[in-house]
Amino acid sequence: MLVLGIESSCDETGAALYDTDAGLLAHELHTQMAMHAEYGGVVPELASRDHIRRLLPLTRACLHKVNKGMSEIDAIAYTQGPGLGGALLAGASFAASLAFALGKPLIGVHHLEGHLLSPLLGDDKPEFPFVALLVSGGHTQFMAVRGIGDYELLGESVDDAAGEAFDKTAKLLGLPYPGGAKLSELAKQGKPDVFSFPRPMLHSGDLNMSFSGLKTAVLTAVNRIQAEAGNAVLSEQTRNDICREFQEAVVAVLSQKARAALAQTGLNRLVVAGGVGANWRLRQALNHIKGVRTYFPPLALCTDNGAMIAFAGAMNLAKAQSAGAFNVKPRWPLSDIVGTTSATGLPLGV
Ligand code: KG4
Ligand code: ZN
Repeated sequence: MLVLGIESSCDETGAALYDTDAGLLAHELHTQMAMHAEYGGVVPELASRDHIRRLLPLTRACLHKVNKGMSEIDAIAYTQGPGLGGALLAGASFAASLAFALGKPLIGVHHLEGHLLSPLLGDDKPEFPFVALLVSGGHTQFMAVRGIGDYELLGESVDDAAGEAFDKTAKLLGLPYPGGAKLSELAKQGKPDVFSFPRPMLHSGDLNMSFSGLKTAVLTAVNRIQAEAGNAVLSEQTRNDICREFQEAVVAVLSQKARAALAQTGLNRLVVAGGVGANWRLRQALNHIKGVRTYFPPLALCTDNGAMIAFAGAMNLAKAQSAGAFNVKPRWPLSDIVGTTSATGLPLGV
């Protein structure tokens, strides 16, 4: 079965072709980052309009790459939620129209399930069961993944997601949006032990996390330094030192909680998914947990992409419906997916 996957939940348009026998055949991505950068964040209306412009060319590019025509697609998977309503609608209506025109089934995919399963697209695939750390701009969660559709929430951030904290901190340090990756590059030039930021909820006794206080600690430090220096701009070295300590604090919390999640579940496989999974320091820390094998999706599949949606769609072919009815779910708890349970009582996903 050849499954077309469509992703449009936020500021990336993705299309991909996954073959249930041959694996991932092609994936194409367009990021809107540059378009949103001048506004300092994602502008939903611009995002929706741009998705509409990109969806067909990206789909055609995938088909062209593998020398296939539209009529060879057997099913179409799209991100049904969670995400920005208008952006989701752009992808959903494109997917539904194509499915209707081709007379093929349509599969609505949960964006987080896509992220959770994305490591299975790598060369080094984890076996079930595993602990997944989903760490993106919108989510920071630990899940026990026992099979397709069998996800248990172990803990999550009670406020900002780790990626959001990276981006907000980068913004207050004057880095262009989205600054997470840039901040992490600058951290390489930072000196240790110049700053000391809190490790929030490190000893909370559960697997929940909090990152918004960390961002405030950075803001307080920046304000203090600037006040002392008569409101001068931060020196590059000071900024890099802050980046380093901020990243150390986030990574310390994530890696400590990851150890606790593994100990609590008795599992020895850790899978890291989501945009912050591209962070070099996090990779370093999580690769050195004793007795644990850590898996990362290929870098290109860490951030939002169509490949994970095509794959999750292929794994959920049984849920396919006819193209006549489609809807999007901007807010959609992952617990609504059959087989998902919440250990903490917190809602899964946004
Ligand atoms: O999964 P993703 O592409 O989008 C969703 O949020 O669903 O993740 C994007 C997030 C952004 O917050 C971005 O700043 C962060 O991942 N990110 C990073 C790095 N690369 C991307 N954060 C820290 N270090 C990085 N290298
Ligand atoms: Zn995502």
